[in-house]
Amino acid sequence: MNLNRNDQCWCGSGAKYKKCHIEFDEKLASLKAQGFLVPSRNIIKTKEQIEAIKRSAKINNAVLDLVAENIKEGMATSEIDKLVHDYTVSQGAIPATLNFEGYPKSCCTSINDEVCHGIPSDHIILKNGDIINVDISTILDGYYSDASRMFIIGEASEEAKKLVEVAKECLDKGIEAVKPWGFLGDVGAAVQEHAEKHGYSVVRDFGGHGIGLDFHEEPFVSHRGKKGTGMMLVPGMMFTIEPMINAGSYEIVIDSDDDWTVFTEDRSLSAQWEHMLLVTEDGVEIISK
Ligand code: MF3
Ligand code: CO
Repeated sequence: MNLNRNDQCWCGSGAKYKKCHIEFDEKLASLKAQGFLVPSRNIIKTKEQIEAIKRSAKINNAVLDLVAENIKEGMATSEIDKLVHDYTVSQGAIPATLNFEGYPKSCCTSINDEVCHGIPSDHIILKNGDIINVDISTILDGYYSDASRMFIIGEASEEAKKLVEVAKECLDKGIEAVKPWGFLGDVGAAVQEHAEKHGYSVVRDFGGHGIGLDFHEEPFVSHRGKKGTGMMLVPGMMFTIEPMINAGSYEIVIDSDDDWTVFTEDRSLSAQWEHMLLVTEDGVEIISK
């Protein structure tokens, strides 16, 4: 798309290109020429898209709040799934995981040594001391949102509580590292440093992702990295940060019966929290809040 200075800007503002994103595009082109990895325009969200994605995220959050209010010992994870499904549909939205690449349920419920993508089941009953990640994703009017939280069932061990807390701090440190015209590697570095400081490991085979117009967009967001490397972070980019932190080794295995559930290979505990972020002109906005 090659615009003339007097054409309408690509962002949908209605303003002329020369008064709107021309400087932004020139800055990106110049950075690219200097060898920096810059995002392509199709992952820079317009104002209208951001508003629509926020509406999706609002429902997604309400679902997580509903789970928070209802989750308890003795509950089957399929009951969580039913709450999620019914509420989402009642809001005119669709659970994004349902039928996604054959995934059979409306959310992921990953307990203890499960890293992610645990499938809700009538046979999995929450018990005292469990730690569980509930991962919710929603499609509203074609726009995607995605976030997850940890829940502690009853009284968990000190070890489990510490892991859940540090995993949350890892997410917070990752978010703090998001700066316009900074780097994706800054995020990975911040998460990795905090996890390793506590003797934990960071899962390598799964990461965060761009989100909004599709479930998983560019870039892949690694939770390990080096400052000043990777894709540049540019206003209008939207992506998740969702570190999976293991008490033991970072190695994972995928359940061969269901082909979805991801476990820690050494069966150590794993915890994960996820937010959706928007890079803004002067910082970062947490969309899933
Ligand atoms: N919310 C998960 C993510 O962050 C969903 C994975 S797809 C599923 O990408 F099918 F496993 F649910
Ligand atoms: Co995600």
